[in-house]
Amino acid sequence: MTRIKRLPKLMSEEHLDFGNSRYIIFSLKDEIGGLAKALKLFQDNNVNVIHIESRRSPKGSHMCEFFSEVEVENSDLGKLAAALKEEVENFQLGEETASATRLAMPEPTAEDVCEYSVPWFPRKISDLDRSSNRVLMVGIELHTDHPGFQDETYKERRKYFANLAFNYKHGKPIPRIEYTKEEIKTWGIILGELSSLYPKMACKEFLQNLPLLEKYCGYRKDNIPQLEDVSEFLRERTGFTLRPVAGYLSARDFLAGLAFRVFHCTQYIRHHSTPLYTPEPDCCHELLGHMPLLAEPTFAQFSQEIGLASLGASDEEVEKLATCYFFTVEFGLCKENGEMKVYGAGLLSSVAELKHALTDAEVHPFDPKTTCQQECMITEYQKAYYSTNSFESAKNQMRDFAKNIKRPFELRYNPYTQSVDVLDNEELIALAVSEIKGDLAKICAALERLKEA
Ligand SMILES: [Fe+2]
Repeated sequence: MTRIKRLPKLMSEEHLDFGNSRYIIFSLKDEIGGLAKALKLFQDNNVNVIHIESRRSPKGSHMCEFFSEVEVENSDLGKLAAALKEEVENFQLGEETASATRLAMPEPTAEDVCEYSVPWFPRKISDLDRSSNRVLMVGIELHTDHPGFQDETYKERRKYFANLAFNYKHGKPIPRIEYTKEEIKTWGIILGELSSLYPKMACKEFLQNLPLLEKYCGYRKDNIPQLEDVSEFLRERTGFTLRPVAGYLSARDFLAGLAFRVFHCTQYIRHHSTPLYTPEPDCCHELLGHMPLLAEPTFAQFSQEIGLASLGASDEEVEKLATCYFFTVEFGLCKENGEMKVYGAGLLSSVAELKHALTDAEVHPFDPKTTCQQECMITEYQKAYYSTNSFESAKNQMRDFAKNIKRPFELRYNPYTQSVDVLDNEELIALAVSEIKGDLAKICAALERLKEA
């Protein structure tokens, strides 16, 4: 069964039990991958990160300061301190309680307070270079129950894919992969199994677009499609593009990509020993589950609107949006002529759960206000699934839901500059109105022509 980009929480109330708790304050240069390296350092030294927060360092705008609450055994402290000395600009390690350690941070400046109230978000598409490598978990440290855990060759291969993603920059072509015979065989098995289920179970938009991917992007049992080809195909269809990613992103960073019609996409494939199971998203999940729907204009717009709603929103609001994303884009069902069909990528890339969702599962109408409260299951089937009548209606529901998101500004995506405009001055608002008026005039003229015809 395929699982999706669902993220481990960095901060969780139930974890606020400070057994061997310490605090660590450390500074890093503001550069891509810096935090990922620091988190790897914690992992290598048996440090459990309970909470972490960042801000621009009072020591300079090129530096970021991190405050982290961690659990670490006394016996590991010496090694940890030595590693921190090697890797970070400077650090403090202490053992006060959580409330006391927060006070250890220097008083925030007025500028910091402003940054705290609105979390950083990308303003233009190239800003994703800053957030796309902030992976919470690099897909190379496989868990002991991962099918590839004891396969050194597989682990080396995963490192290769992770490095490709880390080195990727906006605007560059996505590196082409020479997949091995074993990898192609694994892909072929999955495609074969799922293809037999799609005609009865997948929604009509999926079924319309899959043949196009076969025709233009080489979807065949003996060929794993290249992300670059799929990305170019999507660009022409809906303006979406793909960006390779090394591992799990936070919900905030993943949704931010959608705001720019960028989909963060894994490029590696699951272990060959379990072709119909993966504990994490892989290229089979992305290529089969997500791509056919991202080629659909209404669905692409729906995805982008969730992304736009997330920019600058609070952690709590982002969590709600991520849950709605989970039960629609990943596990959504829809009705077609009274029959239940599937459009969620997590289902369309999992033989077992696809059958389960359409046979004996509990299904409720999608309503963001209630769906956002539902628990997301990561290692087992969902307790319930949500259905919508159309992507259009789901989009309108999400639009209404997004109106209640507390943000001190409104945003508008500007496709000409591939950036988001913060509508906080009359000039920008007037420009937006003028563009909309221009579009509206053309639409009215087209309607008139249709009436006359
Ligand atoms: Fe996914």
